[in-house]
Amino acid sequence: MLMLLFAAAAAAQGCAPAKFLAGRSSFQRCISLPVLGASLFWTYHAANGTADLAFRAPQGAGGWVAWGINTDRPGSMVGSSVFLASPGASGGAASVLTTVLESTSPSLANGTLRFDVPVAPAAEYAGGAYTIYVTVALPGNNTVQNTVWQAGPLSGGRIAAHPMSGANLQSTMKLDFLSGGTSTGATNSMVHRRNLRNSRG
Ligand SMILES: *[C@@H]1O[C@H](CO)[C@@H](O)[C@H](O)[C@H]1NC(C)=O
Ligand SMILES: *[C@@H]1O[C@H](CO)[C@@H](O)[C@H](O)[C@H]1NC(C)=O
Ligand SMILES: *[C@@H]1O[C@H](CO)[C@@H](O)[C@H](O)[C@H]1NC(C)=O
Repeated sequence: MLMLLFAAAAAAQGCAPAKFLAGRSSFQRCISLPVLGASLFWTYHAANGTADLAFRAPQGAGGWVAWGINTDRPGSMVGSSVFLASPGASGGAASVLTTVLESTSPSLANGTLRFDVPVAPAAEYAGGAYTIYVTVALPGNNTVQNTVWQAGPLSGGRIAAHPMSGANLQSTMKLDFLSGGTSTGATNSMVHRRNLRNSRG
């Protein structure tokens, strides 16, 4: 119950002014993502084609969250290069796994992604939410990318499958890191319009 309350409070934060880790503290843009209560803050650097970003999502302390880019196709988790945050081994800072989801039952091997990650990712867990800090070289130097995000439980301390219904199957979105424009690919234009209204900057 307590966790649910924390999650609701974190979810309500959306793009409200937020605290970030020192050195990762200023972002030019933010959008509230349409599902899972998540938000994405970022700064795009045209000169070198990179984006510094913070993905924040409410979650119980016994769960995981992830954000990533699918370089292959839109609307799919499979083929995505993701950053997955879960509780740190020693109960300290959250740890980050980088992995390419090769199937719907991925091995979650910690490895290299299908684009450059010029700065080591970091994650924190605070106030009932994870934040994953990432710098990516946008693949193909293209500002429009197929983004994905997710949240799921642990089982026996290990990353377990996320729910296979509802919001957990709607957590993909095409995002233009330059304009902040989004499209979910869904036919529901209400969702699309709400995203745009929540866009900032
Ligand atoms: C990209 O450019 C920005 C702004 O010029 C700079 O702050 C940042 O450190 C650069 N990133 C990398 C990975 O070189
Ligand atoms: C990426 O594209 C931008 C704008 O189109 C360009 O100025 C920049 O030189 C490109 N960067 C790389 C690393 O290709
Ligand atoms: C994944 O590998 C990186 C780089 O070696 C390391 O810093 C990180 O802690 C690893 N993550 C996990 C969850 O093992």
